[in-house]
Amino acid sequence: MKLVIGSDHGGFDLKENIKEYLNEKGIEFTDYGTLTPDRCDYPVIAKKVAEAVADGTFDRGILVCGTGLGVSIAANKVHGIRAALCNDTYCATYSRLHNNANILTMGGRVIGPGVARDIVDIFLTTEFQGGRHANRVAMITEMDK
Ligand code: RB5
Repeated sequence: MKLVIGSDHGGFDLKENIKEYLNEKGIEFTDYGTLTPDRCDYPVIAKKVAEAVADGTFDRGILVCGTGLGVSIAANKVHGIRAALCNDTYCATYSRLHNNANILTMGGRVIGPGVARDIVDIFLTTEFQGGRHANRVAMITEMDK
């Protein structure tokens, strides 16, 4: 799976922690920034990551800001993106099973690295259930047109 990751300053520490975890697990990824803890604008990073998932450069993305809200709202403006804010493992599971989420967003000021690592595991390994959920996701895709 081709994976891209990004954050603003509010999510920078958690993004760096997740990168460490992905490296430990041997999961390859590309980091679209931010690359320093200096203040920056989350819509810029969210747009870059979302467009790269939407155009097929990457299969999935992970975005982190302070709450996970800003990057989620911004990423969902890009056609074809289903960005799911998951600050708990239950939502992470269903974001994949029912929503076929292609971007995971989390809040670096909301959750700690332990929970975030569990959420990332679930997001990367849980398959979409399809069936009636595929019809619903198709309705969302239709709204993109
Ligand atoms: C930055 O201070 C903060 O607003 C941002 O990281 C994010 O939480 C926005 O939704």
